[in-house]
Amino acid sequence: MSTISTKLTKLLGLRTPLVSAPMAGASGGALAAHVSQGGALGFIAYGYQSVDMLRSEVEMARSLLQIHPQSPLPIGIGYLGWQLEKPNTAAHELLSIALDNNVQAVWLSFGEELQRWIKFIRDSERKPGDTKIFVQVTSVEEALVAFNEWKADVIVAQGIEAGGHGSSTAAPLFTLVSEILSVIPKDGPPVLATGGLVNGSHLASLLALGASGIVLGTRFLLSPESLYSASQRQALISARTGSSVRTMAFDYARNTLGWPRGIDGRGLRNNTVVDFENGLDIDDLRRKYLEGVKANDPDRIVIWAGAGVGLMDKVQPAKEIVEEIHGECVAHLQTAASSLL
Ligand SMILES: Cc1cc2nc3c(=O)[nH]c(=O)nc-3n(C[C@H](O)[C@H](O)[C@H](O)COP(=O)(O)O)c2cc1C
Repeated sequence: MSTISTKLTKLLGLRTPLVSAPMAGASGGALAAHVSQGGALGFIAYGYQSVDMLRSEVEMARSLLQIHPQSPLPIGIGYLGWQLEKPNTAAHELLSIALDNNVQAVWLSFGEELQRWIKFIRDSERKPGDTKIFVQVTSVEEALVAFNEWKADVIVAQGIEAGGHGSSTAAPLFTLVSEILSVIPKDGPPVLATGGLVNGSHLASLLALGASGIVLGTRFLLSPESLYSASQRQALISARTGSSVRTMAFDYARNTLGWPRGIDGRGLRNNTVVDFENGLDIDDLRRKYLEGVKANDPDRIVIWAGAGVGLMDKVQPAKEIVEEIHGECVAHLQTAASSLL
């Protein structure tokens, strides 16, 4: 099988220029470990859990990958900035889990003080530059800040198609990536694309556009290693293109408000969204949501999903997803190259 070489694969020693997104509530140690085992980079998400829970997910990845406690861990940890920034959060302790485990990368997004967390990591790491810093951005302005001011090692451009949280005013992915590539110098950090992407032809297209790799979220929810339940996965398989919508319904229903301004989330349209749009009282929305959680009712609970969800039709081990995407990408690049005279 051909090698794919990009700035990302060279920076991190990967076989495939592919990353599984840190997904709060969905990306634990098992998913991260299996993605990394496949030759891509897997992230564990820190979103709403405790310090101990994050530690145990990292431990799980270490034991699945059979990496000695003192050795670097070839996965990343993604942190939701606004969660670190909440009063009385043990932010330094949480970030130190990444540093103590010598993970390959830290991903930061959706916060007002990302620069503060980047400084903490850079000041505390064992060897300067050991921990690569990924920053997810939703506009060209944010990309310029991440590049010029924060010296991010990797910039992740998130288009409007993305599952989970993102900017309600982000540009479509191809426009956003082109715009960002036009302002980041050729010898600058790798720019990755994310949002609505599903397969190896998507990876090949984005490489042809000039990106150094892609990040997939929703596709990896459909692996047995994700923390989504069987009924959530079934709902994703049944969903069609157009089933996912951007909304604040789930954040009101779950009481997870506090996101930076302009951020909402893309998930499958269900009764929670319908009730929210019809103006149901928020207390009633929350009560119905809690009942839905108890019954694990996909017509009520959140199932985050990107705009590419209609292209997904099966559950597949994460490692197999990585390998399949690698093979498809190589085949598509070869086909594209064969059209040159
Ligand atoms: C279930 C779920 C949870 C997510 N949680 C996070 C998160 O904790 N931090 C973050 O930066 N992005 C998060 N995202 C967004 C992803 O980083 C990425 O932008 C998105 O999944 C890309 O779109 P796709 O799902 O269509 O592949 C989440 C996405 C999903 C689907």
